Amino acid sequence: MRITILGSAAGGGFPQWNCNCRNCAGVRAGTLRAKARTQSSIFVRPDHGADGILFNASPDILEQIRARPELQPARALRDTAIAGVVLIDGQVDHATGLFMLRERGTPLPLWCTDPVDEDLREGNPVLRVLQHYCGVQRHRIALDGTRFAVPGAAGLSLRALPLASKAAPYSPHREAPVPGDNIGVTIADAASGARVFYAPGLGAVSPAVFHAMDSADAVLVDGTFWTDDEMIALGLSKKTARDIGHLPQSGAGGMIEWLAKLPARTRKLLIHINNTNPILDEDSAERAQLAAAGIEVCADGMEIRL
Ligand code: MLT
Ligand code: MN
Ligand code: ZN
Repeated sequence: MRITILGSAAGGGFPQWNCNCRNCAGVRAGTLRAKARTQSSIFVRPDHGADGILFNASPDILEQIRARPELQPARALRDTAIAGVVLIDGQVDHATGLFMLRERGTPLPLWCTDPVDEDLREGNPVLRVLQHYCGVQRHRIALDGTRFAVPGAAGLSLRALPLASKAAPYSPHREAPVPGDNIGVTIADAASGARVFYAPGLGAVSPAVFHAMDSADAVLVDGTFWTDDEMIALGLSKKTARDIGHLPQSGAGGMIEWLAKLPARTRKLLIHINNTNPILDEDSAERAQLAAAGIEVCADGMEIRL
């Protein structure tokens, strides 16, 4: 399979429009060696065939499609390589791009869990709004590990795992998480036998999550924050990374420790990186620490073949 990183930043992107933190100011001024990044999304397609699966519909989706010719194969007057959309959660950075797909001629094939479907009909009613345009053909993602496929994305099979993370602030269960607010997905390619585990919002590594990571050839996991108190230390928030459903990379029980337990051959990649995270600075000590641990940092436009 071929995985294209469309957007590697967390909500807000990098640089974030209103932010003058060291990273955002530095990349804007050109004084920091760092790449600008759009908000969280990947596109996965088989080795043969144009059509694939869009994971998350980022607010930056139109820019992402323009930047990646494989998303527009131009086989007809109106065309797309997006066979269907799979949502990892119902947050703004993963769901608002759905508005931008409204010009489709047929209902948008969409896979999401029941709590995400509810949030996107009530708190942020994009699915109801789309009924006035192309409409949505919604498919329910089960949380019991039942495999599912997106017709058109030949040979790719998917399994979801509920994660400990957080629903969006407009969700009725923001402070009382329910299974399915956030998921991780294992994508398996029948042709190559390869598997990837994708979890851009991961608050804790349960035994089931570790098993999914350990069974994959590549993991694309939560790279939001370096430290638990990153936003507090900068005076930008009162909440820790864990409070908002993101496991930080550094420290005891952090993502670096978990990734170190995986086999050396597993590709380890961080995605959904917040603009405050020091790993965005390619000359930082934190970035060097990741490199020494064999951990890659996703950038927009990267392609991973498995
Ligand atoms: C999150 O995953 O916590 C979101 O990126 C937050 C947001 O979109 O504001
Ligand atoms: Mn997010
Ligand atoms: Zn910033």
